[in-house]
Amino acid sequence: MNINGQPWKTIWLEPDGSGVGVIDQRVLPHRFEIKKLSTQHDAFDAIRSMVVRGAPLIGVTGAYGLMLALQDDPSDQALDAACQTLNSSRPTAVNLSWALKRVKDRVSLLPPEQRASAAKHEANLIANEDIEMCSAIGDHGLSLFQELLKQREAEKRDEPLNILTHCNAGWLATVDWGTALAPIYKAHRNGINIHVWVDETRPRNQGASLTAYELGQEGISHTVIVDNAGGHLMQHGLVDAVIVGTDRTTRCGDVCNKIGTYLKALAAHDNNIPFYVALPASTIDWSITDGIKEIPIETRNAKEVTHIQGLDHDNSVTMVQLTPSESQGLNPAFDVTPARLITALITERGIVNATEAGLKRIYPH
Ligand code: MRU
Repeated sequence: MNINGQPWKTIWLEPDGSGVGVIDQRVLPHRFEIKKLSTQHDAFDAIRSMVVRGAPLIGVTGAYGLMLALQDDPSDQALDAACQTLNSSRPTAVNLSWALKRVKDRVSLLPPEQRASAAKHEANLIANEDIEMCSAIGDHGLSLFQELLKQREAEKRDEPLNILTHCNAGWLATVDWGTALAPIYKAHRNGINIHVWVDETRPRNQGASLTAYELGQEGISHTVIVDNAGGHLMQHGLVDAVIVGTDRTTRCGDVCNKIGTYLKALAAHDNNIPFYVALPASTIDWSITDGIKEIPIETRNAKEVTHIQGLDHDNSVTMVQLTPSESQGLNPAFDVTPARLITALITERGIVNATEAGLKRIYPH
């Protein structure tokens, strides 16, 4: 997608072979900075400190991190240790363990001297497939928007299609296109008059800083709202559909996504508004059924709650304190939306019910 009119991806191999380039998402939208990852430890730190974030991008960064580890030491011992270390960088998005396993399975039977280049090949495949899957999610989601528009034409309404989204499930969370935002980009490119309500998404404000930035760069009309405003807008007919991404989806269709997603689903359900979740196959955890009991929820530093980051009067990106110094904070980073609250899952293979039967219909194997 575009930044200042130039096409970018979130992650790439440096042409001189010196490592992996990424956009530093911690300082967006105020600064555009690139970081180079030269070792597996750089990749680990980039995931853990959220230089890169978003389930699909975390997976791709993990895959390249394993490539960097094998360039350094291709032994069996180093392979196992690197997988373990990288996998511990963030616990909730299943794409990370999925991508690491895929690279490991690809290289482990090879002689050590062939492993780094095979890992590079596999990581490139994962990155390219992510782009293709997100683009296909965009096409399927576009067809849903076109249906919504037909209903509205029947009602003779000509205001923009109002879509609400939470967190950042745009191209910055993937390699390109995004998941939840891909249908929005495709709709915009197809001339659909679309407007996006962007939940700010406290505590790290991925909506206010990243989603708003992405949409602005693509010229898409959007309005940032506080996380608590969505229910009110829904009650007043100002939301046509909600669309979010996911970090882990169970085989039965429960969806784990950024904290606050569950409350949006409840409000959408109460107001009879479709609630869609967009995901690539790499986000499905086939080993679990009950999202609330089985998905590990990352607890992050309470400082993200007690403080907030922004631009100060000297144009420096800075943190300021919000709460009394003696107050404690609690920071669970994700919650689980039960499948019963989800209207449909939008995948690269089509749109299905959030049920085991729905998922098995398009992923029979
Ligand atoms: O903590 P983050 O920013 O990594 O969380 C990201 C999300 O929750 C996204 O909505 C999710 O990864 C889907 S991304 C396509």
